[in-house]
Amino acid sequence: HAAEAQRTDLMTITRHVLNEQSKHPEAHGDFTILLNHIVLGCKFVCNAVQKAGLAKLLGLAGVTNVQGEAQKKLDVLANEVFVKALISSGRTCILASEENEEAIVVEPLKRGRYCVVFDPLDGSSNIDCSVSVGTIFGIFMAKDKENPTLDDVLQSGKNLLAAGYCLYGSSCMLVLSTGNGVNGFTLDPSIGEFILTHPDIKVPSKGKIYSTNEGNAKYWDEPTAKYVESCKFPKDGSLPKSLRYIGSMVADVHRTLLYGGIFLYPADKKSPNGKLRVLYEVLPMSYVMEQAGGQAFTGNQRALELLPTKIHDRSPIFLGSYDDIEEIKALYAATE
Ligand code: AHG
Ligand code: MN
Ligand code: MN
Ligand code: MN
Repeated sequence: HAAEAQRTDLMTITRHVLNEQSKHPEAHGDFTILLNHIVLGCKFVCNAVQKAGLAKLLGLAGVTNVQGEAQKKLDVLANEVFVKALISSGRTCILASEENEEAIVVEPLKRGRYCVVFDPLDGSSNIDCSVSVGTIFGIFMAKDKENPTLDDVLQSGKNLLAAGYCLYGSSCMLVLSTGNGVNGFTLDPSIGEFILTHPDIKVPSKGKIYSTNEGNAKYWDEPTAKYVESCKFPKDGSLPKSLRYIGSMVADVHRTLLYGGIFLYPADKKSPNGKLRVLYEVLPMSYVMEQAGGQAFTGNQRALELLPTKIHDRSPIFLGSYDDIEEIKALYAATE
């Protein structure tokens, strides 16, 4: 066999976005600069997560965040890294982070036309036991960069220009969509570049895995309970689905994207709006899933049609393989 040609034509994420951008002549490189700063943040957090155990970054930071969660040091560090990277890009005018109660308005001299919503460290309860965590982000256009307002943040998922996530797992993968499908880039730590390894990701139309916290089963509503029951005891003679639940949304969604199946964090009697936050968890992940040919549903509407009224609004979410979501939609439709 001819020896595997030495890969000399490395498609880095920056080159990939520049290629994409050439399709939008009106873009002036701002988006590429913004994305490069998000990539910088991901590289930094990837490094910090891998060294957390050694750098004693584990354990509670002794403060609680707006979600009332005990903030771990890495939550705080990751948030500071992304806020600084996004502001220094000079391409944002207002930011919303899980870790900040209010939106962050960028100082006038550093303002650009984009609004970024993000979860700097997702799955942080898994940090202390070395289970995969991630970062989630979504990018909107601001209406008037000189006068950023909360309306620039509280936008419908339909307005997303781009969204993606970085998974700090056995490898560090950045998955991104700018509206023309989904691409996966793996960090090559030896050269510090994200290389295109998963071009044009498509989620399988049906899957054999369901992913949810069964510990909430006692509180589920009937359609969710019926759906999960059908995964475990199929009536059509098919094999039961496997249960895979990591407890980090980024890891559970990434597995769903590549292997197919369904991820669900439904509403329950304790949390009528579910647990996951609309702006920086539900919308970006729904955008990616749809761009990969899957679906994202809230129990009563297409997830991307959600319009948050507050930065930390929550929503139930069912996302994944197209056909699997059709089944849950039918069960909720039957209750109308
Ligand atoms: P975060 O760490 O950013 O607060 O997010 C945690 C979320 C999400 O990552 C995951 O899907 C979900 O919490 C798990 O919730 P349960 O532990 O209730 O299953
Ligand atoms: Mn949190
Ligand atoms: Mn999260
Ligand atoms: Mn988080």
